[in-house]
Amino acid sequence: MGAKRLILDLDLGIDDAMALACALASPEAELIGVTTVFGNVPRAQSVANCLAVLELLGHPEVPVVEGADRALAATEPYTTMVDVHGTNGMGGVELPASRREPVRAAETGGNAAVDFLLEAAKRYGEDLIFVPTGPLTNLALALERDADAVRRIGRIVLMGGALTQPGNVTPGAEANIANDPEAADAVFRSGVPVTMVGLDVTHQVQLAQTELDRWRALGTPAADAYAQIVGYYIDFYVRRSPYLRGCALHDPLAVAVALDPSLVETFATNLKVDLEGPFRGRTIGDPERLADPHKTTEVALKVDLERFETIFKERMLQALSAK
Ligand code: RIB
Ligand code: CA
Repeated sequence: MGAKRLILDLDLGIDDAMALACALASPEAELIGVTTVFGNVPRAQSVANCLAVLELLGHPEVPVVEGADRALAATEPYTTMVDVHGTNGMGGVELPASRREPVRAAETGGNAAVDFLLEAAKRYGEDLIFVPTGPLTNLALALERDADAVRRIGRIVLMGGALTQPGNVTPGAEANIANDPEAADAVFRSGVPVTMVGLDVTHQVQLAQTELDRWRALGTPAADAYAQIVGYYIDFYVRRSPYLRGCALHDPLAVAVALDPSLVETFATNLKVDLEGPFRGRTIGDPERLADPHKTTEVALKVDLERFETIFKERMLQALSAK
């Protein structure tokens, strides 16, 4: 086994930005690239946000690779801006735009994120960790193109879905799955082993406004910007879900689990996604594979809150001190 390599697949909104900062401050694996997808924001905004945030955090060397701009079943690019992440996916905070260009597909209709992921899977195999924190479109397309290469990836940990909790966009569906149910269904039913870090655990890990004072005290441009951006997100959460102490740390938890699976306890099962009716987008046990002894999804149901909180806080302070 060699050194671990990490690829994040982001629909860069606010918790994705925290996940990216944590990944950059994590010694367990080298972040070799960020692939992008529509979701919290349209693809172009996700790309612009990834480039700007990497610049802000002092990591302009990390490639940003353009991925899917729409769900598998959609005929038009996705154009929605999700309220919870503000007008630009960054709580309305305008970061200096990066002058870098993303990696784009050579031909029209291509998907550079899929090319990048498959190349990395072939090159690093077991040592590659892939963490999608938006709709699963890029992963589903990679499976369609070369399932054998995808099977070589050492660990796939996705943020999305819910098994024991209601959804966050409809009573049944969590946002990342709701944005492309067909892609998520293809991933869960592909037989490729994945760990699902869904609302069952991500709603347990919360960040309160008080932590932002520690960021501001660092006095760096990155810390100031993150305090404003995340402050917007916490306000939104507290207004919408007053039973929470702050915002949910969905995507940062997925990254932390990908780097240290012992942070969660999981339930092994075979999942599918409801594609029809009022529960479209719900992640649920696949009745056709209920008796199959071979389970392909580990669903995180319990999290070591204290250990995650310590890791998250330390790594955010480290990432935000850098510049
Ligand atoms: O449901 C939470 C997820 O949806 C997070 O990944 C958030 O960034 C949004 O994409
Ligand atoms: Ca996300």
